[in-house]
Amino acid sequence: MKKNDIVTVEITDLTTEGEGIGRAGAFPLFIKDTMPGDTVRAVVTKLKKNYGYGKALEILTPSGDRIPMCCPLARRCGGCQIQEMDYRAQLRFKTEKVLNNLKRIGGLPAVLSEDAGSPETDREALDAFPVLPCIGMEKPWHYRNKAQVPFGRNRDGEIVCGFYAGRSHDIIESEDCFLTPPEFGEILRLVKAWMLSYGIWPYDEQDGSGLLRHVLLRKGFHTGEILVCLIINGDSLPHSEELADALDREIAGFKALSLNINKIRGNTILGPETRQIRGPGAITDTLSGISFRISPQSFYQVNPVQTEILYKKALEFAGLTGSETVWDLYCGIGTISLFLAQKAKKVYGVEIVPQAIEDARENAERNGFTNTEFFVGKAEEVLHVWYEEHPEEQIDVVTVDPPRKGCDEKCLETIGRMRPQRIVYVSCDSATLARDLRILTEQYGYRVEKVQPVDQFCQTVEVESCVLLERVSSL
Ligand SMILES: C[S@@+](CC[C@H](N)C(=O)[O-])C[C@H]1O[C@@H](n2cnc3c(N)ncnc32)[C@H](O)[C@@H]1O
Repeated sequence: MKKNDIVTVEITDLTTEGEGIGRAGAFPLFIKDTMPGDTVRAVVTKLKKNYGYGKALEILTPSGDRIPMCCPLARRCGGCQIQEMDYRAQLRFKTEKVLNNLKRIGGLPAVLSEDAGSPETDREALDAFPVLPCIGMEKPWHYRNKAQVPFGRNRDGEIVCGFYAGRSHDIIESEDCFLTPPEFGEILRLVKAWMLSYGIWPYDEQDGSGLLRHVLLRKGFHTGEILVCLIINGDSLPHSEELADALDREIAGFKALSLNINKIRGNTILGPETRQIRGPGAITDTLSGISFRISPQSFYQVNPVQTEILYKKALEFAGLTGSETVWDLYCGIGTISLFLAQKAKKVYGVEIVPQAIEDARENAERNGFTNTEFFVGKAEEVLHVWYEEHPEEQIDVVTVDPPRKGCDEKCLETIGRMRPQRIVYVSCDSATLARDLRILTEQYGYRVEKVQPVDQFCQTVEVESCVLLERVSSL
């Protein structure tokens, strides 16, 4: 086989990144925008020793799971990698992605829940644990409460905003997205019009000129409140009051306009300093009746409908009765912490972003919780120091919800030494989850009881999981 050969390929599998896998003869090819059940005519674009890549030219026979794409930009944008897959098939794909990562990367005895009772996977004999079917949404669209939209100029020098094309920094012009609320499109058009009126230029990544880099938008789905944060390559923003007036006038729910200063070249979106232009500098939202203040720099789950399901699972898995002391690691603005605080004696939380901990403390207070205590710092350091100082304090449950890279090993080691009866691991990356579960089970005497995937990121290949581990060893 050579590059540029045209081949017919039957797609039989999917990578964890959502690329179809098929064979041209005996040679495996990875082909984007295809799915199991498709037969495609493809051109070979790249060859390695044992496999290659192709680009689909024509779908000869479509998969039974293939549905019409609803966003015309989906393929170029790359944000919704599996939008052409029927939603039930998306959920199956996600359940299997978690299962396969746990088995392949973690070497763990995971089984699909429907197989858990069968003689081949005798749970007791194999120590197998079930991966439950991924919990999906009724309406898997317009679910995101946050967008970070880059601004730039097109080839004709016109101001554009939209999304980076997959694996590049070319902006695909689009104000409206099928994953975000309709108000976000209205705000982006309004910001663009304001830039044109006052001669505000977008940032140019190549030469570092221009002012506006990104617009960060957040909406509280329960409160309707909207925060607009302009990320600028400078110290001040001329005519920001006029922008605030226009947002006030035209956008229902507009609550706050902030400025974030980022003068550093490179692709980090947010800079270290945020200033308020109008309103309180944050919005509030509620999850299961608990009210949260959310600042621009603070992490907040992007899909609030599924977040309630996820956190309720975390609370259920924690098995609290009212007498337990809990550590919530990587706690953000204290969302999981406050869910747990409803049923625990005491909850400690730790988080690296100082602003998020300010939010967490205020959130505890505004909801009347007096049984929480929050620390700023790295989870691996704060937990270690705290444990050295409080070796006698019994910790019953630890919850962790780390970023994609998973938990620091030192953090897992301290958890192991603290010996909580249960660990609840919330993860947005099943590969690092698998690595960490292996460490907890092999080195610290824990057993995985169950894994519940939850679809927080419909139309994409990403999946969130909530895992219960029980302490089984008396070591
Ligand atoms: C996936 S978020 C979870 C936040 C929170 N549990 C929630 O659901 O809203 C991960 C959080 O870990 C924080 N973080 C990243 N590295 C950290 C570290 N080494 N120690 C403590 N927190 C960290 C991030 O700032 C972020 O808020």
